[in-house]
Amino acid sequence: MKGINQELKKYIEENIFPKYDRFYSHGMIHINNVIENMLMLADYYDLDCNMAYTIASYHDSGLGIDRENHEYESGKILINDQELKKHFSEEQLITMKEAIEDHRGSRKTRPRNFYGECVSDSDRDFDIKLLVKRQISTSIKHYPNYNFEEHFDNCYSYMCKRLNDNGKFNLWTNNPMLVERRDRFQKEYLNKEYAKSIYKKEWDKIKKDGTYEKIINYYEDY
Ligand SMILES: [Fe+2]
Ligand SMILES: [Fe+2]
Repeated sequence: MKGINQELKKYIEENIFPKYDRFYSHGMIHINNVIENMLMLADYYDLDCNMAYTIASYHDSGLGIDRENHEYESGKILINDQELKKHFSEEQLITMKEAIEDHRGSRKTRPRNFYGECVSDSDRDFDIKLLVKRQISTSIKHYPNYNFEEHFDNCYSYMCKRLNDNGKFNLWTNNPMLVERRDRFQKEYLNKEYAKSIYKKEWDKIKKDGTYEKIINYYEDY
């Protein structure tokens, strides 16, 4: 993470990342992935890497307050954060707040600024292993009595429906690296036997290492 202000990074690690402690599918595995994607895009489009890092770090921070409107709650957390005023101008803070407010994949209209397009695209899971990890935990949370086959059928039919309804997942930036990742991901995912083997591996792992119980009893994801 070259170029990132170390004081800012330390502040975020100590004060914002703990907000994700009670989340699994929206926890740090996800946040780290969004940060990585955002920094890749920042590098590609020559954006401000401190803004990119901060947006990615705060983008889901309001989940614990109000899940349905978490993009607005996350935006509020950012704009009310006094520490950030040391590092960013008022104008930069507004740009970052708007980007966070516009990050959701379900959004039909284009985000108001380019950082918003980048964080929305970075929020996508075009990594089958990561998607499976997040999806299985959501399914366990909703259907704690399901067995593996039931979880797999539930997750797979949900995703296939999304793929069939939408064709390709939308990417506002059409960044060539993300486009390639999306296309590879979609191809891999539609290979049902392969996809099932990834779900099975994840299922066996979380059943063994205690994550399964933690998803049911500790994490607040949905
Ligand atoms: Fe989100
Ligand atoms: Fe997110």
